Amino acid sequence: MNREDPQFYNIYELPWRTDRGEHEILHGLESRLLSRNRRTGAATYMARLPAGWRTSIKADQDTVECFVLEGDITVNDRSLGSTGFAGIPQWTGPVRLSSQGGAVVYLFITPDLPLPAYTAGITISDVWNEPWQLIDMTGVRHGIMFKSLRIPDPAQGALHGGPGGFLRMTLCTPGFMEPRHEIHHNCWEEILILRGDLLMRDRGLHTGGTYLGNPAHLWHYPSASQGGCLLLIQCDAPMDVEFRDYQGGYETLCSYLQTASWLDEPEHTDWHEPVELQYSYGGTAFGMESEAPPLGASPNGAPDGRPHIVVPSASGEPTPGIERAESATG
Ligand SMILES: [Fe+2]
Repeated sequence: MNREDPQFYNIYELPWRTDRGEHEILHGLESRLLSRNRRTGAATYMARLPAGWRTSIKADQDTVECFVLEGDITVNDRSLGSTGFAGIPQWTGPVRLSSQGGAVVYLFITPDLPLPAYTAGITISDVWNEPWQLIDMTGVRHGIMFKSLRIPDPAQGALHGGPGGFLRMTLCTPGFMEPRHEIHHNCWEEILILRGDLLMRDRGLHTGGTYLGNPAHLWHYPSASQGGCLLLIQCDAPMDVEFRDYQGGYETLCSYLQTASWLDEPEHTDWHEPVELQYSYGGTAFGMESEAPPLGASPNGAPDGRPHIVVPSASGEPTPGIERAESATG
């Protein structure tokens, strides 16, 4: 589960464990550890909240980002259901958390997440209600859209994400294909598949519950999706990307798209033969400046829409100096 190593596994096959004592939000909860940075202590978990769960966290150690897979969770007085997201930045506690009927969530826990992440305070969104943005990243092919969860999220030019990286829900549209190898020199990335299929030539078939971890400097891809693929992507620094040709990549992906059946549900599957993963060190991204979001952009960098809601602190007082933004449907 080390973030320093390449990872590809089925999250749903991991054992549940109780109370690791490492992060206050996990106390007493069943959880699965998905990844950990041994140097910083940042970690990703799947956690199960029992019905009637109620706690208060000081939030003085980490920023906690919570994506709801099923069930309900309430952050202070704001309730979220499936596909809801809460960003609880460090130093905004105490924060009251509860679940009426229970929930299963992904938790992204990051000590000392660099500013300006969540300078607006605790942030809540019904992700299903937010607009998709077409990805606008140098060299990236047509067919990918995303919604920013961690905000702000600079999303133009050659480097994407803030100083602490981005956390996004991303959609690879049906028929998406990238026959080249890609690499990120500037960041580690992890991908949690929510639904769909994504064949990656050097790892295997990604489906709901697949975990993919790519350390910086690791070549990965080529990939293609028959029916589309919905995923969460996190990185830990502004993301760069570089591509190179991959011999046989296009043919492999064509074969997948032309032989995959629409009648079968895809299953997480390792690539059928060992592939030696390759690294390239160096690159050109270090030292590049990430472009700022356009003037007038919403907190998530989108040119319009008001998808995020800033939640008052546990005391009921809004975070000083923070504008409250309501979603389109309130
Ligand atoms: Fe990547």
